[in-house]
Amino acid sequence: MAVERTLSILKPDSVEKNHVGEIIAMLEAASLRPIAIKRTQLTRAMAEGFYAVHRERKFFGELVEFMTRGPVVLMVLEGENAIARYREIMGATDPAKAAEGTIRKKFAANIGENATHGSDAPETAKFEIGWFFAGCELP
Ligand code: CMP
Repeated sequence: MAVERTLSILKPDSVEKNHVGEIIAMLEAASLRPIAIKRTQLTRAMAEGFYAVHRERKFFGELVEFMTRGPVVLMVLEGENAIARYREIMGATDPAKAAEGTIRKKFAANIGENATHGSDAPETAKFEIGWFFAGCELP
């Protein structure tokens, strides 16, 4: 299996509720190594550009409001099959449908405030990592 990189966002709800450490511990336990981490406040432009594929969806405004309401933690995770593995550990987008033991089952309130984001494919991971991390910030 190939070693991959994926983009993780610990969303404002995770930061507000002090779940950052616990979530990172779950990732490390699953051999998903954070190789770059930063805590920042997204601007509207940063959030709108990141989620541009969802621009026409009816929840887009709500999503941007939520993602800009407080600081987030941005991470690049590295590991074997990292993209799919991280999505498995996050659980379904809607926490009501997420499996027991997943991050969203444990920490997410609803489909909008769902604790974390993870890239869904190699091309998306490349775009998303590049959106938030400069080459000089990555090993
Ligand atoms: P994420 O994995 O970050 O990718 C897009 C986000 O849009 C998703 O998590 C949810 O937070 C949000 N989202 C998806 N569907 C809905 C929905 N039906 N209502 C509100 N937010 C949604």
